[in-house]
Amino acid sequence: MSETRQLRLGTILHGASGNMSAWRHPAALADASINFSFVKETALIAEAGKLDFIFVADGLYINEKSIPHFLNRFEPITVLSTLAAVTTRLGLVGTLSTSYSEPFTVARQFASLDHLSNGRAGWNVVTSPLEGSAKNFSRSQHPEHALRYRIADEYLDVVKGLWDSWEEDAFIRDKTSGQFFDPNKLHTLDHHGDFFQVAGPLNIGRTPQGRPIIFQAGASEDGKKLAARHADAIFTHHDTLEKAQHFYQDVKAQLKTHGRGPDELHIFQGVSVIVGADAEDVERQFQTTAALVSIQDALNYLGRYFEHLDFSQYPLDEPFPDIGDLGQNSFRSTTDEIKRNARERQLTLRQVALESASPRPRFSGTAEQVANGLQQWFDAGGADGFIIQGGTPDTFPRFVEQVVPVLQARGLFRKAYPGTTLRDSFGLAQPRNQFTE
Ligand SMILES: Cc1cc2nc3c(=O)[nH]c(=O)nc-3n(C[C@H](O)[C@H](O)[C@H](O)COP(=O)(O)O)c2cc1C
Repeated sequence: MSETRQLRLGTILHGASGNMSAWRHPAALADASINFSFVKETALIAEAGKLDFIFVADGLYINEKSIPHFLNRFEPITVLSTLAAVTTRLGLVGTLSTSYSEPFTVARQFASLDHLSNGRAGWNVVTSPLEGSAKNFSRSQHPEHALRYRIADEYLDVVKGLWDSWEEDAFIRDKTSGQFFDPNKLHTLDHHGDFFQVAGPLNIGRTPQGRPIIFQAGASEDGKKLAARHADAIFTHHDTLEKAQHFYQDVKAQLKTHGRGPDELHIFQGVSVIVGADAEDVERQFQTTAALVSIQDALNYLGRYFEHLDFSQYPLDEPFPDIGDLGQNSFRSTTDEIKRNARERQLTLRQVALESASPRPRFSGTAEQVANGLQQWFDAGGADGFIIQGGTPDTFPRFVEQVVPVLQARGLFRKAYPGTTLRDSFGLAQPRNQFTE
């Protein structure tokens, strides 16, 4: 076994993949977002490539300007439960919001997924950026950014406490004596907090991974703090190695505050990739996909980050407009980044919109060149792994077929799964039970 530090890989389901208009691409399945055969095939390709996990993002509010993939897509837990039955090693990571759900229900759902998949469940904890979500959940107001993170912090304490309800060997099921469980191995949470009152215990036993793996997506200061305290992995996006390194060092340093080591949390950069025969082929692939996005589509795409602002009211070919603090209460880290980028590079509204809706892939080129890019970020401390999103609808299978073997040949990526669970793939220890240690 090689001693080389291993990089980790996941892939994200994002409809036809590529960009918001990629469903129009000749190689795309136009209904990919709601086509289980496509989802299953993608998962099987990922598993054949020995990838760590498949990732399902989610949102709780749409309107007529939302991107096509968001209009008609599977609910994450449901689709991942179905994938649990047709895969055996691939981690199954789904997004679920702590702002619009109940900890008892969510603890049950992910515990069930962990049992159903024999230890492959992961929960991507989000606080929900979209203000409109309140309208779908009988709320008068979307909780503001800092409050959402306070709720999330307590929420995770509750869920983790519920997951510790039963010790691993609590269910004796002794037919002779009639004893179904050992009462000494049952623990009742009895949580009384600022936001939640939850008695417990949870009505499902300790899961194969001890508890599911926790991802966190949200890169503001509060988001990083939440991750440092609770998460096993982070999903983030950075457009330069320098920013990625800065984020990486910041989060890893914060782990110490919680008595955690740097290897206890993996940082994943979400990256778009195009693999081609040469530079010309890559450019042709990119332009074919980018050309599918109209400027109006791109303005709508951009507007969603800024509380569905109608950007068509501003001149397209003048500097990105001053929109004040808009975005602070929704996608804060993302909107801060869009504004900073526009200012620093002096971009027009048209450029910002088109770059957001159809960004140039972070890593592109031949399989060797893509592998070089990933390795560079990995070696330079920009990431522990990557969540691969195909830059065109047919990129992901090509990535697994061509780039993964290069990474394997360099000893950077596994040729076989190290165990059966996502925790095994991540090289993370079983968690302790808070009631027993
Ligand atoms: C890379 C990344 C991925 C995200 N994925 C989702 C998602 O799938 N669903 C969701 O509701 N929010 C998602 N979010 C939003 C965050 O959870 C959070 O609600 C919002 O971004 C504000 O937090 P922040 O300012 O800490 O980033 C994502 C954020 C980032 C940075």
